Amino acid sequence: MTFTALLLLCLPCLSLVSGNYNSPPSVPRHYNTHKMPYVTTKDGTEIYYKDWGNPAGQPVVFSHGWPLNSDNWENQMFFLGSEGYRVIAHDRRGHGRSSQPWTGNDMDTYADDLLVLFEHLDIKNVTMVGHSTGGGEVARFLGRHGTSRVSKAVLVSSVPPIMVQSASNPEGLPISVFDNFREEMRKNRAQFFLDVPTGPFFGFNRPNATVSQGLIDSWWQQGMQAGFINSYECIKAFSETNFTADLQSLDIPVLVVHGTDDQIVPIVDSAYIAIKLLKHGTLKVYQDAPHAIPNILVDRLNQDLLEFIKS
Ligand SMILES: *[C@@H]1O[C@H](CO)[C@@H](O)[C@H](O)[C@H]1NC(C)=O
Ligand SMILES: *[C@@H]1O[C@H](CO)[C@@H](O)[C@H](O)[C@H]1NC(C)=O
Ligand SMILES: *[C@@H]1O[C@H](CO)[C@@H](O)[C@H](O)[C@H]1NC(C)=O
Repeated sequence: MTFTALLLLCLPCLSLVSGNYNSPPSVPRHYNTHKMPYVTTKDGTEIYYKDWGNPAGQPVVFSHGWPLNSDNWENQMFFLGSEGYRVIAHDRRGHGRSSQPWTGNDMDTYADDLLVLFEHLDIKNVTMVGHSTGGGEVARFLGRHGTSRVSKAVLVSSVPPIMVQSASNPEGLPISVFDNFREEMRKNRAQFFLDVPTGPFFGFNRPNATVSQGLIDSWWQQGMQAGFINSYECIKAFSETNFTADLQSLDIPVLVVHGTDDQIVPIVDSAYIAIKLLKHGTLKVYQDAPHAIPNILVDRLNQDLLEFIKS
């Protein structure tokens, strides 16, 4: 077959590409759907991340809760990815598919790791979304690195401003609660990581709950994938870090979503205080909702995220 004949045969395809169909946006160089994507931080820790959806869409970056990983955001990532957004989520150091360093298991380092990812992907105009510990990571990231790349933030069932009880935080949970977490982990981490999702995390210990064994198993699997020291030290990071100044410094709109039946991060010591510290905060209280809003109130959270990002 001659070159001209080949060209003629292919003409219909060319017109398809240029005309009757929306050609996909150009794909950034780093975007590789075949390799497991990692970035390496200053101390050599490898951070795994997912980069889904429309590579040219506005970016939404998700930070997961303790002791989970980016898988826990898949309902929101699938939804917003299908709405045309670029949806990105990493596994925090020591969690999921990231390395398990013995050091740096604290909020400042978590925030610095996330900055490495932001710079690697060179993303701007980002909406950051954090759940629980991830909400602390979002607050510390913004307090420590500023909002130049970020236009909005969402804190879902999040730990800020500070969980642990003290003279200046009387509504907080006593340190004995977190010491007990550590003790349970030390005795039998596998059993503790079964008891948390079977009980308070999803609200499955409530009489009228619809229990999902799949969610319990997924939580356990993600939890056990995290390193021991990493999930152990993260308890201090999420309970004792004071995010008050981070929240006060924020000059961007922040949506705060929290359930009144959150048995992990009680709303009285978190969202109700956080909203007073934020300059441009909006509080959405989910009546009777448990801690696991991203898993239990999927459609409601998805709609609230979409509305907030578009607003
Ligand atoms: C950020 O994205 C929104 C929504 O796509 C757009 O309206 C806005 O102009 C963008 N802002 C900047 C600074 O790029
Ligand atoms: C569970 O029961 C309580 C008390 O009757 C009620 O307030 C709440 O709305 C119920 N929750 C669900 C998810 O049905
Ligand atoms: C948290 O930090 C703020 C100042 O940023 C301080 O006023 C407050 O006392 C601190 N709270 C606790 C419990 O350490």
